[in-house]
Amino acid sequence: MASSLGSYIIVTIIIATINVPAGASNQYKVGDAEGWQLPNENNADLYKIWASKITFHVGDSIVFKYKNDSVVKVDKRGYYHCNETSRGSMYKDGNTVFLLDKTGFYYFVSGDFDHCRKGQRLMIEVKGQQLPPSMAGPSPSPLPSTAVSWIIPSFRILVALEAFMIVACCPLYGPYLT
Ligand SMILES: *[C@@H]1O[C@H](CO)[C@@H](O)[C@H](O)[C@H]1NC(C)=O
Ligand SMILES: *[C@@H]1O[C@H](CO)[C@@H](O)[C@H](O)[C@H]1NC(C)=O
Repeated sequence: MASSLGSYIIVTIIIATINVPAGASNQYKVGDAEGWQLPNENNADLYKIWASKITFHVGDSIVFKYKNDSVVKVDKRGYYHCNETSRGSMYKDGNTVFLLDKTGFYYFVSGDFDHCRKGQRLMIEVKGQQLPPSMAGPSPSPLPSTAVSWIIPSFRILVALEAFMIVACCPLYGPYLT
């Protein structure tokens, strides 16, 4: 009897452990300490290398930190040719956040043609999020807060379930626990 209570607690801990990180979203600073700038000539692959080290998931976001530069979200052709910055919004605020709200490839370039040609461009692939079936519909949530919010209700349900199980179990297990 006591050992089945033990198994129940272990299962609960496993469920809680799986549950929480699955919905967690991360924000990544593009280029880490280098930020978003024209790479050195001998480091032209800076942003390719940076992107290759991270597995991006829906709900994550990236932040570009820069000075006297810009960032534009473009399509694949704009990424390779650096010439389609007029088709997207150009951000110049120095601290630009993009939410990765769907799967697939994302392309960003410096609004400066020459910077882009010299390696200041970023391509990332965003993979799906492991969401509970009710959330894993065809249209992922557009806001990071929504992506995170299911954790709280599901955690509450877990706590409520646990409280119920303890109440339900204790009359049975009580004699063995005392
Ligand atoms: C800002 O960037 C432009 C274009 O790259 C450059 O011509 C200019 O000298 C830069 N200004 C400063 C203050 O770095
Ligand atoms: C950018 O360059 C490519 C290849 O030269 C060309 O096909 C495309 O039309 C250009 N785009 C713009 C907006 O000029």
